[in-house]
Parts: sequence; C-alpha cells; structure tokens
Amino acid sequence: MAPHGEGSDAAEEAMVAQVEKHPISSILIVIAMQTEALPVVNKFQLTENPHSPFPKGVPWVHYHGTYKDLTLNLVWPGKDSALGSISHPIPKVSSISYMKMLNLLVSTWVKCIRHVKADMGVDSVGTISASLVTYAAIQALQPDLIINAGTSGGFKAKGAGIGDVFLASHVAFHDRRIPIPVFDLYGVGSRQAVSTPNLLKELNLKTGKLSTGDSLDMSPHDEASITANDATVKDMEGAAVAYVSDLLKVPAIFVKAVTDIVDGEKPTAEEFLQNLASVTAALDQAVTQVIDFISGKCLTDL
Ligand code: ADE
Repeated sequence: MAPHGEGSDAAEEAMVAQVEKHPISSILIVIAMQTEALPVVNKFQLTENPHSPFPKGVPWVHYHGTYKDLTLNLVWPGKDSALGSISHPIPKVSSISYMKMLNLLVSTWVKCIRHVKADMGVDSVGTISASLVTYAAIQALQPDLIINAGTSGGFKAKGAGIGDVFLASHVAFHDRRIPIPVFDLYGVGSRQAVSTPNLLKELNLKTGKLSTGDSLDMSPHDEASITANDATVKDMEGAAVAYVSDLLKVPAIFVKAVTDIVDGEKPTAEEFLQNLASVTAALDQAVTQVIDFISGKCLTDL
C-alpha cells in the first residue's frame, strides 16, 4: 500500500519483497461493529484473549485462533460507554395516585432498560477508533496482512446493489478538505489497496474505489469529494486503516458489503438498519472465502 505517485526506499522494498515471497501466516482482521465481527469470530471459533495486548481500560477487544496454516487475530474497537452516565431523576411518590405510580414504574423500567443499554455502550465506529486499534494491533501482533471488513453504503450509479461485496481497489477520505496545495492531497489521502487480481477473479467479487468519512449521511461537500474520489462504496473506517497500514508497511485489503444505496430513495440510516443482519451474513461468507483463498499463499499469489 503506497500513497499515489510515491515510491519507497531500497531497504523498505527489499523488506516488502522478502515478506511477499513467504506464505502469509498471520492475518489481522479489523472490524468496527460487533454485529459484523461476531459471525466471523464464531465461524473461525476465535476466542477472546483474556490477556489483552491493549492498554488497560480501553474497550478494544482481541479475538484469536488458528485456521488451517493461519494465525487469525480479529480486533474490534469495542463499545464506547460515554453515553452510560446520563441520569434520570425519579420524582417523589408520596402524593401521587396508583395510576400515576404504575405509569411511573413503567417509565422508570423503560429508562432502566435504556440505561443498561447505554451502559453497554455503542460501537466505536469511525476513523479515530479504527486507526488507534489498527496501530496497537499491528504493534502487538505483527501481522503479515490486514483485512478491514465491514458494511458500506454503495452507489447504484457506479454498479453497487444491496448485499454486493466489494474488494476496494483504492481508498481515500472525503471529509478532510484542506484547499491549500499539497495539503489538499494529504487530506484526501488516496491510497491503492494491495493488488489481488487472483482473489478477485476466484471469488467473483466486485471491485471499486472506497471513500471514507466520519459520517453515515452525506453532505453536499462530502458528495462532491466522493465524486472526485470516483468512489463506488462509502464507509467510515477504510482510509484510516489504510493510513496505518501504509505507516507501518503492512499490506491491507478492504472487504466491504453494501447495506444501503446512497444515491437511492430510502433514508440511509433506515436502510442500513433494515439490511444490517442479512448483509452481515454476506460479509461473513466473503471474509471466510477470502481467508480460505489466502491460506497457503504468498502476497504475490493474491
Ligand atoms: N456503512 C454502511 N453504510 C454506510 C454509509 N452509507 N456511509 C458510511 N458508512 C456506511
């Protein structure tokens, strides 16, 4: 993975060439949402590492196991518990009727359920968590290859449909606009994914460019940048994982399953939630096929 138009020095090239000649033995799978991660964890019978390699107190979760000749590590940035501290004051009950008391009990119970849910937190989606957990996982686990898997929005005008699984050819950001020469390119951060022509052909996956931003919706500014990025799919982590993969020279591939059509009629959040479960099954199947294909192969065989 290299920024467009930039080369790497000779020592680095020699190191990469060395890695490319050996069968891939260790894969790091980076997945942002629990709903997306657990089917993969279960499929490969991965177990949560009780001795997490991550700093004490962070929500990041590390699952690991072996499959065929591969060491599999899956990291999920976990839940953000920031919403768990909302308090709901309970009024005095001395002077209220039985009906009111019943209503109060029901509403308190509903609030308690909400509270418990909030305590459990919300998936740490987005670029910040993705880059942090990817960095820490590479440092701790030294993988040969990263697979960033997850759901995405898709553009029907570029050939995407619900449930399609894409292997991204390029990744870039669409919400880092810095209109100053050279800073503009840094902001967009366009990178090429590691080339995997055999994988694409064998698994019959679709391919296209991936654009990343920290919002599920799409503002007019985002839309213009996504068009400039020539993107077919849109997510909230890919380009951040690509940045770290480039920084630490670990090749990465991006497997993205389409939950919603960005240029369609349905509201994005509604369509996303409606399709999340079924599309997650398609994602899980594609990740399994990708890992099966990688087993016993070198990077250059992909
Ligand atoms: N993940 C799933 N759908 C998405 C969308 N429309 N934008 C960003 N990330 C997504």
